[in-house]
Amino acid sequence: MFPSSLPTPRLPASGSIPALRWGIIGPGWIADHFARALRQQTSQQLVAVSSRSQQKGQAFAEKWDILRVFTDVDQMLALPDLDAVYIATPHNHHYPDGLKVLKAGKHTLIEKPLALNAREATELQQLAQQQGVLCMEAMWCDFTPKYAVLRQLLADGVLGDLHTLIADHGEFFTPDHRIFNQALAGGPMLDLGSYLIGLSVNVGGAPENIVAHGQPAPGGVNGQASMLLTHGNGMHSVLNTTLFSNTPGGAVIAGRDATIVMDGQFYAPGAFTLTSSQGGKVLRWEEPLNRYAQLSYEAEHFAWCVGQGLTDSPVRPLATSLLTLSVMDEVRRQIGVVFNEER
Ligand SMILES: NC(=O)c1ccc[n+]([C@@H]2O[C@H](COP(=O)([O-])OP(=O)(O)OC[C@H]3O[C@@H](n4cnc5c(N)ncnc54)[C@H](OP(=O)(O)O)[C@@H]3O)[C@@H](O)[C@H]2O)c1
Repeated sequence: MFPSSLPTPRLPASGSIPALRWGIIGPGWIADHFARALRQQTSQQLVAVSSRSQQKGQAFAEKWDILRVFTDVDQMLALPDLDAVYIATPHNHHYPDGLKVLKAGKHTLIEKPLALNAREATELQQLAQQQGVLCMEAMWCDFTPKYAVLRQLLADGVLGDLHTLIADHGEFFTPDHRIFNQALAGGPMLDLGSYLIGLSVNVGGAPENIVAHGQPAPGGVNGQASMLLTHGNGMHSVLNTTLFSNTPGGAVIAGRDATIVMDGQFYAPGAFTLTSSQGGKVLRWEEPLNRYAQLSYEAEHFAWCVGQGLTDSPVRPLATSLLTLSVMDEVRRQIGVVFNEER
């Protein structure tokens, strides 16, 4: 049934979110946005940072009023008054850094992707279970109000039988960006592709069949990939990601009864339109385009999970991160992309 209004997003009540004491590993570009979101939007505490460079760590600490700076991650992890660690290093550091943090018994928030591949991710999942701590992929869009509303529309069956998901995510990067660096597991898949495949498996579940084509970029990394996923519920996902150009970055989720069209970039804060297949009914979601401020939702959800004694997020369980990586593994197998760590 087409709703009379869009549902209200279900988010943790502020009184149920404990203020965790956080440490950060890798104070780079996204860590800076994360720290700002925590400082300006939440009551989470930033207490330590670990950088390979004392000078860089110090500058970050001064900017965000962080008391302790480390150049040795193990020393930071030995702090008794540290509850959680946010890992914001490049992709191929997520697994080794994640192992360290989990072994130290700290709750662990790992930037996307959780690891390079499903094998590494499985090891992180097993270690988190052994240690009895929360481990979560920082798939920030999943925790935002817009995605909460989309989840509810899908759970309520508003779209009817799902048939088609179409999404693209292309961004132009200058050649000096880490995304072109083979030594840092470059290429679009683990960066931009996370959003595409994450949306596809969230909506359609595990694909039964995958067909992918790739095109290399100078420097040896993949430059673009196009993917067709067919799902058990009959839905087809048609996905493209590229480092060569900016693309609109919209997404369409089409069902028998209604269709959702998400403005680009679909994973970031922005509008979407829900339109009925018959009768011309339309509902529109609008919100401020405050992209990086919305990193606060992943931190608050994470803290809420810790407060509830959960070791896996109900919104972004590790099983979903693993499924996303296993789809990427298959795409990479078909297009011939092997990371250095896998050789
Ligand atoms: N959620 C999002 O919207 C979003 C957006 C962008 C990126 N990300 C994810 O966040 C991760 C980091 O991306 P970023 O763009 O923030 O990268 P970045 O600016 O290069 O920052 C990564 C930081 O990791 C540290 N690091 C440790 N080992 C390194 C190495 N071998 N090479 C380079 N840096 C190293 C560096 O800090 P020190 O030099 O201080 O040690 C560096 O500043 C990626 O996995 C990416 O997928 C998420």
